[in-house]
Amino acid sequence: MKILAIETSCDETSVAIVGARGSIRSAKFKVLSNIVSSQVKLHVRYGGVVPGLAAREHKKNLPRVFKLALKYAAIKNPRQAIDAVAVTYGYGLLPSLVQGVNFAKDLACQLDKPLVGVNHMEGHIYSNWLGADKNKSGRTGPAIRFPAVTLIVSGGHTALVLMRGHGQYQFLGETLDDAGGECFDKGARLLGLPYPGGPVIDKIARQGNAHAFPFPSPMIHSKEFNFSFSGLKTSLLYFLRDHHYQFPERLSRKKTQLQADIAASFQHAIVRVLVDKTLRAALNHGAKTILVGGGVAANSYLQKYLRQTADGRGIRTPIIFPERSFITDNAAMIAAAGYINYCLGRRDDPNQLDADAGLTLV
Ligand code: KG4
Ligand code: ZN
Repeated sequence: MKILAIETSCDETSVAIVGARGSIRSAKFKVLSNIVSSQVKLHVRYGGVVPGLAAREHKKNLPRVFKLALKYAAIKNPRQAIDAVAVTYGYGLLPSLVQGVNFAKDLACQLDKPLVGVNHMEGHIYSNWLGADKNKSGRTGPAIRFPAVTLIVSGGHTALVLMRGHGQYQFLGETLDDAGGECFDKGARLLGLPYPGGPVIDKIARQGNAHAFPFPSPMIHSKEFNFSFSGLKTSLLYFLRDHHYQFPERLSRKKTQLQADIAASFQHAIVRVLVDKTLRAALNHGAKTILVGGGVAANSYLQKYLRQTADGRGIRTPIIFPERSFITDNAAMIAAAGYINYCLGRRDDPNQLDADAGLTLV
């Protein structure tokens, strides 16, 4: 079957069309189109996403992105070709979600197809099932086995979730304050770097020394699986203030190196605690797979450090990261999670489905 999915939870307007086949246990996906229209340029001057502006842009972009998704998937008659409509209805910015949900409700009615609401975090988890291997099919099957421990770390979330099967989520821990991606973004701002901060810190940290400055990794020694990142951000703030370090646009070579060393050390403090808790959770729960999802999964240091630390501790559990194009917000991952929910029997009434900003996995 073909799923048309819509994602507008934050500042990316995305529509995807994904072919899905197989039973829930052997589901395979083929991404026919996955159009992402980013609003980053609009929000960069404010140093973060402005919800009202984001919603206005979604409304403007959705018809265009929808048409492009059909075009790339070579679909002329959506009523004939599309079997179901999936949409992110939570978690995210309410005004943004509402735009996608309304568009999806209208579309499901026009096409007379079932509507499936998807939790954004579930989308990030199922981004791991989307893969362009040689046969262009997904990776379900031997690669991803349950129980799986999933680290979801994005601009809005940081959570460790235990999955004993499809659609079964048990929260092991989550952030008590800022999300991991938010910490990258706020840290970057303090270092004079643009929004979104994660990719920029990732890039400049490659030239820096991760052990130059000992930033704290909050809650690393606590036995629980919750996270806290606001103290780390504050320690960077005090560190810069106490040393009178400032990073204007043009930097000397020495200052550039200092900025890279601080960025690398700050990144190390975030990544260390993510990796330590993920590996401990995997051991405690006998995980057969470790999955990572959410924007921060794109971080090259996290990818390297997680694998290296697992090796160093003799942990052989397969570690899976989503493919690059499915890591940050996109609608293909919503289609994958939508198909799983569809197989589990979920159908939403277009007259009833509401956007829900604070929706969490159950
Ligand atoms: O999943 P996502 O696209 O949107 C949310 O659901 O929030 O994640 C966006 C977050 C931002 O905080 C961004 O700075 C972070 O993911 N991010 C990264 C990288 N790429 C994106 N953080 C660290 N390293 C990266 N390479
Ligand atoms: Zn996301």
